[in-house]
Amino acid sequence: MSTAQEEEEELFPGYPRGWFVIGVSSELAPSDVKPIKYFGREMVLYRGESGAAIVHDAFCPHLGAHLGHGGKVVGETIQCPFHAWRFDETGKCVDVPYAKRIPPRACVKNNPVQEHNGLIFMWNARVEGEDPTWEIPDLPEYGSAGWTDWGSALIDIKTHPKEIVENLADKGHFGPVHGTWANEFGNEFKDHIGIQHVKGVAYPRGGGEDHFELQSTYYGPGYMLTEMQSVLPNIMLLCHTPVDTNNVHVRIGAMIDISNVKEGKEDFQEGYRQNIIVGFKEDIAIWENKKYRPRPILCDGDGDVGALRRWYQKFYMPQAEVGY
Ligand code: FES
Ligand SMILES: [Fe+2]
Repeated sequence: MSTAQEEEEELFPGYPRGWFVIGVSSELAPSDVKPIKYFGREMVLYRGESGAAIVHDAFCPHLGAHLGHGGKVVGETIQCPFHAWRFDETGKCVDVPYAKRIPPRACVKNNPVQEHNGLIFMWNARVEGEDPTWEIPDLPEYGSAGWTDWGSALIDIKTHPKEIVENLADKGHFGPVHGTWANEFGNEFKDHIGIQHVKGVAYPRGGGEDHFELQSTYYGPGYMLTEMQSVLPNIMLLCHTPVDTNNVHVRIGAMIDISNVKEGKEDFQEGYRQNIIVGFKEDIAIWENKKYRPRPILCDGDGDVGALRRWYQKFYMPQAEVGY
């Protein structure tokens, strides 16, 4: 008889496969080097002189220095701070300053990276050799005249990412947690994409009622965009990347079309952003203290939590079996 915890680990072993946000493009200038930790692995993120973002596993194959602490960018390569071996963008050692012959097996593992919409994404494979099978779409609004950048905030949360994803199907929590009520609610799951449609009403603390309609779309297990009919056109960002099995980095932001805002554009974006963060913090308190129920007791007014879980679990299954 297995315990609930064993059952949970069996369903969600390790980390999901997919593209995950590991940084913000504008925060990594050419030649910058940063130590990062995601998926329980120490890594180094750097930008080569030509502008490409590169992620290698952190520890030098020579005597084990962390390339992210004191490593230097030379062209497209990173130079180890300990004995100055250099590794190119594929992770292969291309220079040992004091040796006549470079050991042929000297390399660090390289991880696929792409930048879209001002964000740096890394592909997390579950098995060596599993390549990316889908792309993060470029938003036509990103960088267009009148639109702000994300202005994203980074929040550390003590939870498993499956708890955050479950929001997508959790119709019943809108009222009690966020003070908004969903009149119409539905999900769609197709390959790596998970969608939520909501039509509802919110009762702001200042009184009155706001009717809203939104669509949230997950592209893979860790990057979600929400489009909501609102006073101003906007796209909300929610992305979450596991640091280890019980810690998640969440980035929340919003791109807003402020071309029609005459005064106080910055204040407007900041106010909007703070509102989203307040809403999100209402969820965090629940996630950080809850327990996962592998077999929850559900009722007819709940969303389709089962369908959501079957979809999410596929990112833990072999790519060959799932097809993406
Ligand atoms: S430990 Fe990296 S060059 Fe020696
Ligand atoms: Fe929520």
